[in-house]
Amino acid sequence: MSTTQTTNVATEMPQSTRTAAFSTSGPPTSMAPNGTNAEHGHITIKKLHATFGAEVSGVDFSRPLDDETLAEIRAAAAKDFAQYGVLVFRKTGLDDESHIAFGRQLGELDDITPYLGAGRANRLNHVELFDVSNIATDGGLLNPDTARGQANKGNNLFHVDSSFNPRRAGYSLLLVHELPPPGMGGHTAFADTRAAFDDLPDDLKKELLERNYIANHSMWHSRKLAAPDFFADVEPTDYAFGRHQLVQKHEVSDRMNLYIAAHVHHLDWLEEKESRRIIDTLYEHATQPKYQVEIEWRDKGDLVLWDNTCTMHKAVGGDFLRKYRRDMRRVTVHDGSSTAWGLNDKTALRQGMP
Ligand SMILES: [Fe+2]
Repeated sequence: MSTTQTTNVATEMPQSTRTAAFSTSGPPTSMAPNGTNAEHGHITIKKLHATFGAEVSGVDFSRPLDDETLAEIRAAAAKDFAQYGVLVFRKTGLDDESHIAFGRQLGELDDITPYLGAGRANRLNHVELFDVSNIATDGGLLNPDTARGQANKGNNLFHVDSSFNPRRAGYSLLLVHELPPPGMGGHTAFADTRAAFDDLPDDLKKELLERNYIANHSMWHSRKLAAPDFFADVEPTDYAFGRHQLVQKHEVSDRMNLYIAAHVHHLDWLEEKESRRIIDTLYEHATQPKYQVEIEWRDKGDLVLWDNTCTMHKAVGGDFLRKYRRDMRRVTVHDGSSTAWGLNDKTALRQGMP
């Protein structure tokens, strides 16, 4: 039996809590009945999983966040609530501009210029928005047989954002603009890679810490893994890798993290077979259902903020793909930790595809 948890928080929460969400005025929001909520100044936190993930209410997105609220969100994502890593905000009312502004409050933003440079046309008006939709530039459904349609299949594998670039992603902020009808799929699943590391057998944990493997991440490798026929002629070793320590400290929580993803092509210093064996063992371990939480997108304006340096995520498919538009846009914040650049040269070189 799968132990994956799907959130259905709004229907579980009392009406008083729901209507109080996203307003910082008036009395504090009430505690949820299951005792997992916590109030922290402006915002209310409801846990979604035993080890990570939370739904946050009480944030007013109708104007730029004040420093106090921003500090609370940062703390929720990091220090005081180190286990969360994934924060869900419902019906934020954010648009492109305020979405980008929220991301900018969390750090320096990545952009899609490498994709435009590779020949992709931008449907959206801002280079800071990664188009994670199934929509073509003419507004119709994206043909799944195009290069972009085939490349999107890679998002169905658990991964972290931008680990293949010299400077990896820290936070990602994914916002709903348009959803398929309920029941057609399109959820997003997350995996807790710190809990996965904690649970490794002692001898394997010891080996990883002692040998300190370097993982080589490639966008082309994960694309090829997900769509082997379409990308049969692509050779990942023809492109630059993003090189990062496989196990490293997640600094803001002071916990060790297994920094693994479908992008990992090989580990340095090992024979190919042994390298693949270790990668597959760790990836299968970290993606077990018990480490996962699945987020159901419900309304325009729903936003999930996650930390790529302590979680993986994947798109969960569904029947909508060839039938209904799903318009999701992502703002990506460069990692600000001391290991943001991994073992890479600090260059502007980034990967992109048409
Ligand atoms: Fe992603």
